[in-house]
Amino acid sequence: MTAADIADLIYRSKKTTVLTGAGISAESGLATFRDALTGLWERFDAEQLATPEAFERDPALVWGWYEWRRAKVAMAEPNEAHRALAQLQAARPQTIVVTQNVDDLHERAGSRNVMHLHGSLFAPRCARCGQRHVFAATPAMEPEGGRHIAPPVCVACGGKVRPGVVWFGEPLSPTTWSKAEAAAANCDLLMVVGTSGLVQPAANLASIGRRAGAFVVVIDPHPTAIDAICTHRLQGKAGEVLPRLLQQARIIA
Ligand code: OAD
Repeated sequence: MTAADIADLIYRSKKTTVLTGAGISAESGLATFRDALTGLWERFDAEQLATPEAFERDPALVWGWYEWRRAKVAMAEPNEAHRALAQLQAARPQTIVVTQNVDDLHERAGSRNVMHLHGSLFAPRCARCGQRHVFAATPAMEPEGGRHIAPPVCVACGGKVRPGVVWFGEPLSPTTWSKAEAAAANCDLLMVVGTSGLVQPAANLASIGRRAGAFVVVIDPHPTAIDAICTHRLQGKAGEVLPRLLQQARIIA
């Protein structure tokens, strides 16, 4: 199968779902989680930063780390891959974007109704009562990895405000998950872009799509855990591969 064949699948697809991971934002300068040396989980300890227990133990460490990440995202710009997907959605409004990313680069590129499986850096809530919280300002640029910053206090109950992301050991939002499952089960083409496929249940969407009869196309510069079940694979960077494919599929000029 060549890129032209995959472009043809996109051209013919009546319902495309796209599952994205950290790799799609890599060309915007945001670190992935598991790339050698540069990945966030290579450089920082997930147990200390991305679990409910870590927040309980040292809320200022965790909040400071997420403020650093929020500042990085605020300074980043969507790249060619985010833009290509937004153009695909504009041309084919039935296209659904499901992301594991907590950044807002799909939205800033123009994508609509993005399903954020792992929550968002921009939707903090009270750890005790769940009250939504609005950030007062864009974050200051923190030193690499952030510094200790006490989390805000909830106006409703006095509890600690936490990042609106899904941490290890926490369930996904059941509503978002069931919509994502339906999007995988009801598409004829599932494109999986920039994810190692190592985190469940997100990675399972590829199997759900495949079992339901969809073509499953992986786009990634490196091998992924989804390669074993996909129908097609294109090796390369999302920002290069996606615009080329969509041009070949005559979706973008
Ligand atoms: P990973 O860091 O596990 O995987 C990133 C993938 O992106 C790898 O397969 C890379 O080869 C690929 N990649 C790197 N540069 C790329 C580029 N320019 N174009 C396309 N692909 C590229 O990130 P995720 O799979 O997203 O969860 O990680 C899944 C979850 O694990 C994250 O959502 C996060 C993390 O723990 C939570 O925080 C809950």
